[in-house]
Amino acid sequence: MSRKFFVGGNWKCNGTTEEVKKLVTMLNEAEVPSEQDVEVVVSPPFVFLTLVKNLLRPDFQVAAQNCWVRRGGAFTGEISAEMLVNLGISWVIVGHSERRALLNETNDFVADKVDHALSQGLNVIACVGETLEQREAGTTMEVVAAQTGAIADRIMYWDNVVLAYEPVWAIGTGKVATPGQAQEVHFNLRKWLNDNISVQVAESTRIIYGGSVNAANCKELAAQPDVDGFLVGGASLKPEFVEIIKSAT
Ligand code: G3P
Repeated sequence: MSRKFFVGGNWKCNGTTEEVKKLVTMLNEAEVPSEQDVEVVVSPPFVFLTLVKNLLRPDFQVAAQNCWVRRGGAFTGEISAEMLVNLGISWVIVGHSERRALLNETNDFVADKVDHALSQGLNVIACVGETLEQREAGTTMEVVAAQTGAIADRIMYWDNVVLAYEPVWAIGTGKVATPGQAQEVHFNLRKWLNDNISVQVAESTRIIYGGSVNAANCKELAAQPDVDGFLVGGASLKPEFVEIIKSAT
């Protein structure tokens, strides 16, 4: 089964109005494969969602970097999934390792967020990944299977889920996983989906890689059979993000 290549740009907590406008102009002027061949989703901070949504080319989509775990109400400072839908935002990143670590987002809390976001009509980039200690202890698959399993226990349908494998030790460090390391985990994640959910979900769910992806390493990673795209951090703020999108070809 062919899976449409997916490239996400996670801008994290970065940008000013002027910088965001320049970045969107760069993206709007970029020559990239058609949206039939690659799905591009950029994820600005909440405060720039409407600006980016209004200025960005129509063949690219916009994601929030998080959403609240249930419907809105007395949750000061939170942004609900339904607010994002109301803004015309179609994607949300859930369970990023930085939030799991800094805000103690547990597997169950992340799974509840995925379930709620899907219930409100959002597409979800669900993040999993192990720490360096967990990898060095040989527990990588145990960790990502538990993270994925918590989500699988909550949701009925995977049609609107992209699974992002982001080894924590590769995020922001310049220590990108080797193509072999990425392929091994992606293959085993797909096998987990096959063994625990269904052949159809395993074959159709895009599993994307994140962690120090750049223009120099993206081609070799994209060539791996179970790497269906990328979730890019630092490089998504630079012109090389266009080269990463082109690695879909
Ligand atoms: O969500 C993607 C991000 O965690 C990867 O960051 O800077 O290593 O590409 P970076």
